[in-house]
Amino acid sequence: KIANVSAFQIFDSRGFPTLEVEVTLANGVKASGLVPSGASTGQFEALELRDGDPKRLRGKSVFKALSHVNHEIAKALIGMDVTRQEAIDARLVELDGTTNKSRLGANATLGVSMACARAAARHQGVELYEYLGQGQGNLIPLNEIQIFGGGAHAGWAIDIQDFLMIAVGAKSYEETLEMTFNVYHAAGDIMREQNRAAGLADEGGWWPVFNSNEEPFEFFLEAIKRAGYRPGKDVAISLDIAASDLFDGEHYRFKKEGKTFTPTEFCELMETWCTRYPIISIEDPFADTDFASWARFTERLGHRVQIIGDDLFTTNINRIAEGIDKKLANAVLIKLNQIGTVSETLQAIRLTQQAGWLPVVSARSGETEDAFISHLAVATNAGQLKVGSFARSERMVKWNENLRIQRSLGDKARFIGARLYERIFS
Ligand code: PGA
Ligand code: ZN
Repeated sequence: KIANVSAFQIFDSRGFPTLEVEVTLANGVKASGLVPSGASTGQFEALELRDGDPKRLRGKSVFKALSHVNHEIAKALIGMDVTRQEAIDARLVELDGTTNKSRLGANATLGVSMACARAAARHQGVELYEYLGQGQGNLIPLNEIQIFGGGAHAGWAIDIQDFLMIAVGAKSYEETLEMTFNVYHAAGDIMREQNRAAGLADEGGWWPVFNSNEEPFEFFLEAIKRAGYRPGKDVAISLDIAASDLFDGEHYRFKKEGKTFTPTEFCELMETWCTRYPIISIEDPFADTDFASWARFTERLGHRVQIIGDDLFTTNINRIAEGIDKKLANAVLIKLNQIGTVSETLQAIRLTQQAGWLPVVSARSGETEDAFISHLAVATNAGQLKVGSFARSERMVKWNENLRIQRSLGDKARFIGARLYERIFS
């Protein structure tokens, strides 16, 4: 039984305020949930409630959300059975009463929902991944790891938000980490040699100086080779275009190069890139409203490229169902705080899997030291995890947690690596 729910303000990886929620059970068991925060957020996401008072923490403080947890939510949940996650989350949804959690704040509901899940696991004496997956989760995910960052996360140094790698040749989870280490540092070495290093982007990847949006591809290929790998065979490229940020309703615009594209031209450009470079996965190649481009691109490339909707779906089952119906993509990015409860996130993953699509469990650009998503990925056999780069503890805690989960699973742990894509490629 839940005896208490309380929240306090902590700070995320960008130093911005966020919530930590603590749930206490009648038997004294305690657990917490720490809430992440995005920067290139989708317009259909559940609302992150911030105070907006310019005199305090630049308007970013979360005291209203805290107060909702400490009063209204605590009152509604005290006495409930903590192991009934769906009932708890349904209660939160009902209490909020809006379609996008804009009254209580999705940051308030998510912190509570995560803390309840963790408290229930602790109460039952099992690991979080076992609890969330009801003992069915054992697939250690393939990592999608950022090597350079751009877009909203790096002062628009380049227009594309993420250049990521997927270690498609890896035979084990450990090998994905070693390969990532090698490519990440090879990229850093070349960047310094060429005087391109401007710093680190928000998710820990390099923040490079490039003059066009094509240069990074050549650079990436060089880094893969310098690290001793075959592009496409051992290490494939994955992109997050975050194209909603580039679209004005009519045209896609590359600010850096001062180029504009019609949706058809942009679709052709994405296709050219996917043909010219060893790209196995592309996220948000089009804006969240440009369904025609999504459908066209998926029809043409969905048999050999993973096409992920992030801003397009915002972990929302109604939007995912519409996307499945209209064949807009073949994969869904899964972010807990886009929807605001653990149960709705699990539902979104199930719906994705039932359609034969692939879920990719993801962190946010503003993260915390909470590794909940590592457990979520294994629990649901999602198969893929995206957590930004291979540096900084708010990222590494997730990669490292998978090593612990793998140890805890022992002989039951599975790693299938890139064979995962057989489900969507023909
Ligand atoms: P965000 O970026 O957390 O800033 O939204 C991550 C992404 O777009 O995948
Ligand atoms: Zn994205």
